[in-house]
Amino acid sequence: MTLLELDDLSVTYRIAAGEVPAVRGVSLTLDSGAALGVAGESGSGKSTLAMALLRLLPRDARVGGRILLGGEDVLTMKWGRMRAVRWAEASIVFQGAQHGLNPVRRVGDQIAEPLLVHGQARPEAARKRVSELLEQVGLPTWRARSYPHELSGGQRQRVMIAMALACSPRLIIADEPTTALDVMVQAQVLTLIKELVAEHDISLLMISHDLSVLADVCDQLAVMYAGRVVEHGPSGEVFHDARHPYSRALAAAFPTVGDPASRMAPKGLGGDPPDPMRLPGGCAFHPRCPVALEECASLDVALWLAGPGRTAACVHVREKEGAS
Ligand SMILES: Nc1ncnc2c1ncn2[C@@H]1O[C@H](COP(=O)(O)OP(=O)(O)OP(=O)(O)O)[C@@H](O)[C@H]1O
Ligand code: SF4
Ligand SMILES: [Mg+2]
Repeated sequence: MTLLELDDLSVTYRIAAGEVPAVRGVSLTLDSGAALGVAGESGSGKSTLAMALLRLLPRDARVGGRILLGGEDVLTMKWGRMRAVRWAEASIVFQGAQHGLNPVRRVGDQIAEPLLVHGQARPEAARKRVSELLEQVGLPTWRARSYPHELSGGQRQRVMIAMALACSPRLIIADEPTTALDVMVQAQVLTLIKELVAEHDISLLMISHDLSVLADVCDQLAVMYAGRVVEHGPSGEVFHDARHPYSRALAAAFPTVGDPASRMAPKGLGGDPPDPMRLPGGCAFHPRCPVALEECASLDVALWLAGPGRTAACVHVREKEGAS
């Protein structure tokens, strides 16, 4: 059953210098209990997409298209319902846990807060639930009394995951949940996320610039470039046998889980990501593409079939698959 459906989603930031088209016509679906990974280098629109899902974007962002969560239209939802959805139906684990926690409040109180605010539990039951959640994320229950600065980066990220789980959501959106962590801790937190979503039958939308991380955790992968999905399919196939030259470069840049140095400039991929206010015409990847054809500078690219259950936005795929 489909839990989340994005239909032609677009997000444009309006700034003094003009318009920044950060997400441009993204259509994706996520089934109940499944895990979808969204990859792409810095600036490709991943966090904008994640924030759009729960209407967390700043006021200057204009959102188009449709977002259906459990059949409900998120973009037209009343604010009261939206607030309830944010914890009880779907929650976000942000990039860099230190920013998501209040430094002057004990972590147990912070985990309990959504339960109390949304009326899911009275104080005594909330305390019990906090202990249960800490155990689930592999922290001793006495950690409830700690302040964020008393925890390591990995422990803080576990607290963030406990907060996200508190109201038993159906969907967790994890935006670079392990990027700030060293490789060993990153692997532990990834294993934890994998186990939790499987055990609790939660759907996961996980965002990373690191294709190897996503391939490890997710069933399906979508690769974004300049605000668009350029490849989509089963994660193992996209990671090991990418059809779009950009996905191939990303996969080659992250042969092993981790390696934060590759984030800004994936190895093997020349040039910089394009400025969204000055996107190249045709296929937006053409100035950096190692296999570009002359027509790519003016080509109207679309996601073409690239095998069973797979699509890619590249002229070579269109020619190979005979799609039009
Ligand atoms: N509040 C904002 N106002 C104007 N432009 C913005 C705003 N937030 C993001 N952008 C722009 O939108 C584009 C997409 O940004 P976004 O944060 O979604 O990328 P990302 O893929 O999450 O990158 P990263 O991997 O660095 O987190 C970028 O060009 C960015 O500069
Ligand atoms: S359409 Fe052309 S420029 Fe774009 S990825 Fe394919 S070959 Fe490269
Ligand atoms: Mg981001």
